[in-house]
Amino acid sequence: MDHGNPLRQLVMITSQQVETRSLAETLEFGARLARELQPGDVLALSGELGAGKTALVKGIARGLGVTVEVTSPTFTLIHEYGGGRLALIHVDLYRLDNVPQALAVGIEDYLNGPGVTVIEWAERIAPLLPPHTTRIRIESLGEDTRRIEIA
Ligand SMILES: Nc1ncnc2c1ncn2[C@@H]1O[C@H](COP(=O)(O)OP(=O)(O)O)[C@@H](O)[C@H]1O
Ligand SMILES: [Mg+2]
Repeated sequence: MDHGNPLRQLVMITSQQVETRSLAETLEFGARLARELQPGDVLALSGELGAGKTALVKGIARGLGVTVEVTSPTFTLIHEYGGGRLALIHVDLYRLDNVPQALAVGIEDYLNGPGVTVIEWAERIAPLLPPHTTRIRIESLGEDTRRIEIA
């Protein structure tokens, strides 16, 4: 995505942000976004609990062709999903206490690996994020409406 950044172009068309009106639309947006992803891409997701970060990851998984269900990593910070066009590494830092812990868990190895890494609560490891990280903010506008903004 760093060369010419088709994902960013896609979002430019939709004026850098989209509004979804249902979980299904967010899944579809994630699946569409997944088609633009390339090896080594890092997506940093931010947004409140229940905003739809995991939902977006589920959509991305679908778009990559991952067939197993994506669940929130609860006790592990990282889940890795194979079987798709690219490996998907799903990181959820909700329970992360500090950056040394993230280093200990090996997040840096994933960030420099060939898969696509999607990180919930990515702001918690801001100093570790590579320069080519794409930041995505999800905001709840109502019960079923979400604004997804790609910076
Ligand atoms: N437009 C929408 N996009 C995504 N999720 C939605 C939407 N409308 C309602 N929801 C609901 O919001 C919740 C999002 O949960 P989740 O993806 O786990 O959030 P997070 O990972 O940000 O905490 C789900 O219960 C989902 O059904
Ligand atoms: Mg989540």
